[in-house]
Amino acid sequence: MLQADLLIHSARQLVTCASPHGVKRGAALGDVGLIEDGALAIRDGRIAAAGRTGDILRDYTAPVQIDAAGKVVSPGFVDCHTHTVFAGDRAGEFEQRIRGVPYMEIFAAGGGILNTVRATRAASEDELTALALARLTIMLRLGTTTVEIKTGYGLDTAAELKMLRVIARLAEAHPADIVPTFLGAHAVPPEYKGRGGEYAELVADEMLPLAAEWFAGSHFARQGRRFCVDVFCEQGAFTLEQARRVLEAGRSLGLGARAHVDEFVALGGVSLAVGLGALTVDHLDVTTADEIGVIAASDTIAVLMPAVNFHLGTAHHANARALIAAGAAVALATDLNPGSAPCYSMPLVMALACRMYLMTPAEALNASTINAAHAAGMGAVVGSLEAGKQADVLIVNAPDYRHLAYMLGDNPVETVIKRGHRVVS
Ligand code: NIG
Ligand code: FE
Repeated sequence: MLQADLLIHSARQLVTCASPHGVKRGAALGDVGLIEDGALAIRDGRIAAAGRTGDILRDYTAPVQIDAAGKVVSPGFVDCHTHTVFAGDRAGEFEQRIRGVPYMEIFAAGGGILNTVRATRAASEDELTALALARLTIMLRLGTTTVEIKTGYGLDTAAELKMLRVIARLAEAHPADIVPTFLGAHAVPPEYKGRGGEYAELVADEMLPLAAEWFAGSHFARQGRRFCVDVFCEQGAFTLEQARRVLEAGRSLGLGARAHVDEFVALGGVSLAVGLGALTVDHLDVTTADEIGVIAASDTIAVLMPAVNFHLGTAHHANARALIAAGAAVALATDLNPGSAPCYSMPLVMALACRMYLMTPAEALNASTINAAHAAGMGAVVGSLEAGKQADVLIVNAPDYRHLAYMLGDNPVETVIKRGHRVVS
């Protein structure tokens, strides 16, 4: 008999999302690695074994055992694109938009992202930490066990560094794994209005070296995490050349690259980011067929965020079927932020991806677990239930994994286990 700390057994369905060779593409994206009457053995916070209940109970014993009869056991969700740290809200703009004012028009008039920048600059580190911790706890209850979090509501050196310190405090205070991303080039701040190029220089020459220094001294670096620089490449935000300046500066400091591209206007950001070896390109709502081919032929992951399309009520959205058919690695995320996606819920994101993007429930689940883990640079550690990986596990009160996407606005997650410990039950 092998000794484990915890056994979860008799699950009606164990969905492993196993993918030993990296991201899932094409037909593999539709395979959740389903084991009926499944079980998991967990030891030292890691998965010791995943398999049929009969086999696991024959090989392992443990002081704590959970009977998951009638339920689904799945990997914890990875939310690979969020703006979880912010102050204030934009409920007023929400109503303005309902009355017909477009999102980018509110932004151009000094609201939108800049509205949240004012509130975030004014908030203390303690306030921002408390606000974000409360959000992470809601997300954890919804099954999200790993969260990527971007800066980008500071937009000056001091406030961007403040956001990085808040992100580090979240990682220490909350059970979720946190992945920081530097998004100093999220918008041109009011002090630089009409001088986006100069602001991009400031990000590249002053902010990024300081961010890289912060990261090198942080617990994230000691844990072997990846640190990326992100940019909002969009009409009204940063041009292709400004985005290149920022991403190349990040690269020369050893940072990975990510980019918000093609949310409203296709500027060619996909080819730029893929050409620079970006880890992800995110949004892709108006990406051309040619650039879908560029993503598919690369290692860059396509991060799609249907809650943005749904919340903004835009007519256009990412062509997930074309991306998957072309062979792109697709991941899903909430994009949690106070403007374009006030959304905590990966089950809701999966539900929207199935209805709006015509992804299947299996594709949506893999895109929210294993592929999202890779998109956050955490694919070797989390995202699937495979021996050796961290034991981030959900017990879902549903007879079939498809209920995660089938139910609309429900929270079917009953128990959340993080690194082998029950954190929600
Ligand atoms: O990913 N598009 C740019 N940035 C965010 C929105 C941030 C905001 O509106 O505050 C996004 O959608
Ligand atoms: Fe975003």
